[in-house]
Amino acid sequence: MDHSSLIRAAREVRENAYAPYSGFSVGAALLCEDGSVFSGCNVENLSFGLTQCAERVALGSAVAAGNRKIRCLAIIADSEEVLSPCGACRQVLAEFDPALTILAANLHGKVEEFSLGVLLPRAAKGILNKP
Ligand code: THU
Repeated sequence: MDHSSLIRAAREVRENAYAPYSGFSVGAALLCEDGSVFSGCNVENLSFGLTQCAERVALGSAVAAGNRKIRCLAIIADSEEVLSPCGACRQVLAEFDPALTILAANLHGKVEEFSLGVLLPRAAKGILNKP
C-alpha cells in the first residue's frame, strides 16, 4: 500500500473519533508486513485519563488480529502542524517496532515522515535486561 492510501485510511477512520471533550479528532492507520491495515481513532472518556489515543487503538487491533509485524503508521488530525504521537504511544509502539516509520499528516495536505527511533531513542535499553 502506498503512503497516500495509508493516509487516506487514517483520514477515513478519523471520522469515527469519539472526542467530545477535546474536540480534537485523530485517525491512525497501521500497515503491517503482510500488507494488512488496522485503523484506530481516539476514544475519549469523561474520566480524562482513560482516553485512548488513535495510535494505541490501531495497534491493539493489529495485535488482537495476530499481527505484530508493524511497518508504517499514518496519523492525521486537523492541526496546523502535523502531530506526533504522545509519549505513551511512542513507548507502546516501540514494543513492536522501535524504528517504525511514521507518516504524520494534517487535513490540509501537509505530510512529514520520521522514524519512531528519532522520537523515542533507547526505548528498551536496560529494562528487564532485554538485549
Ligand atoms: N490524541 C491522539 O489520539 N493521538 C495523538 O497522537 C495525540 C493526541 C488524542 C487524545 C485526545 O483524545 C485528543 O487527541 C487531545 O489530546
